[in-house]
Amino acid sequence: MTDEVIIEATEDAVQRQYVYIEKVKEITAEQTSREGRQPTYDVRVFGCQMNEHDAEKIIGMLEEMGYSKASAGEQADVIVFETCCVRENAEEKIYGHLGILKPSEGDKRSIVAVTGCMMQQPQVVEKIKKSYRHVNIVFGTHNLHLFPELLYRYMSEGRRVFDIWDAGSQVVEGTPITRTEKVKAWVNIMLGCNNFCSYCIVPHVRGRERSRNKTDILEEVKRLAQGGYKEITLLGQNVNSYGNDLGLKDAFAELLYALNAIDGIERIRFMTSHPKDLSDSLIQAMKELPKLCEHLHLPFQSGSSKVLKDMNRKYTKEQYLQLIDKVREVIPDIAFTTDIIVGFPGESEEDFQDTLDVVKRVRFDMAYTFLYSKRTGTKAAEFSNQIPEKVKKERFQRLVETQNAIGAELNLKHEGLTEEVLVEGKSRHSDAMYTGRTREYKLVNFTCDEDLTGQLARVKIIRAWPFWLEGTAEPHQ
Ligand code: 5AD
Ligand code: SF4
Repeated sequence: MTDEVIIEATEDAVQRQYVYIEKVKEITAEQTSREGRQPTYDVRVFGCQMNEHDAEKIIGMLEEMGYSKASAGEQADVIVFETCCVRENAEEKIYGHLGILKPSEGDKRSIVAVTGCMMQQPQVVEKIKKSYRHVNIVFGTHNLHLFPELLYRYMSEGRRVFDIWDAGSQVVEGTPITRTEKVKAWVNIMLGCNNFCSYCIVPHVRGRERSRNKTDILEEVKRLAQGGYKEITLLGQNVNSYGNDLGLKDAFAELLYALNAIDGIERIRFMTSHPKDLSDSLIQAMKELPKLCEHLHLPFQSGSSKVLKDMNRKYTKEQYLQLIDKVREVIPDIAFTTDIIVGFPGESEEDFQDTLDVVKRVRFDMAYTFLYSKRTGTKAAEFSNQIPEKVKKERFQRLVETQNAIGAELNLKHEGLTEEVLVEGKSRHSDAMYTGRTREYKLVNFTCDEDLTGQLARVKIIRAWPFWLEGTAEPHQ
């Protein structure tokens, strides 16, 4: 008997899931009355916001099927891994977690399901098949919405289920969703990526760009506003090319104007932008639309034009710096954050100096810095001039020190100012403090006499720390 289960991508696939949700619900209801407790789930997420958002869909489906969230330390009835493969250490961590789950005799058996980007790589699926026999269900990024069907198949047939699709067809709408936050929400506007940066596995595992229809996006955001959400972050690998696949031009800016008009939503953010596609109309929208926050995440990856060419990024160091100047001219107080890769194949000390130069010139509020990681299947993995680990790490250290000093200096400028903070709730570190972010995406922990969760508070910044700001709320009007 084979492990493979192939489920066709038919039109009614989403509708059909509601039938399977009902079928699993019967099983969980029976289990609840037999055991006197509701069966539980544990969804473990690795990687980016897109994965966090996909995990909200998995949780949505699980809750519809009658599962409740496992308490800390409890072994859940269903454990789902939402995996990431953007760098090797993410994969290693996930294998580690899966290894720990191997049941010893007499253990309570959980159903273990694994999904996400890592599963779109055939060599990974083979390894799971052979060496992780306790993994019961494997599915990919393109058929996430079929989880109820796959779970039911496993429960009713008792054999391992593997269903991975090579490519995504249409964008799937209507999957149940349980949002983990109450004040801000992620909203997918497009899936996939067409850019094929030479280091990146994402286009290989998430497929080509597919945009959601504007009406579906607007409907979702209106519902969020009605549900009390105040901030949305639009998600896509490359939001600036939103609508290109639908034959639209300048559709991203237009979408922003439409979203800005939705009552109840106070703030709009988006990520990620590719420098090559950042249009004048978007810059204009950022200037004109009051709800668009003064923050732009604009990965530059490397400051060396030669490395950028090898990375297939399609812009030079000078073009990137010019773009930053252009945005600053229109929106002077904007905060920039970025992604940087250190140790790309062939990166010389001189190339690295160009990266440091961009960091010093732009003065980013924050940078996500990564050691280059070789990903099987990408162009750069074939390059012969890979950089020794020791050199990469030493450069990485210098980069982090440079950036941290700049970030801390920029934070200091906020001392004494009063900032608008969207209050997200109690601080995780101290019960006496609330937490939230400014429009520039600065993290603020502050004292306040009343609970203003979900509201915009005026917070006086009394102290700048390297990675956050400390404040005290001004009396509420
Ligand atoms: N190695 C290191 N960093 C990578 N990123 C993507 N692929 C790799 C890789 N192979 C980084 C890029 C991207 C971010 C999400 O992850 O900086 O912007
Ligand atoms: Fe990867 Fe480049 Fe696409 Fe971003 S734009 S997901 S870095 S290929």
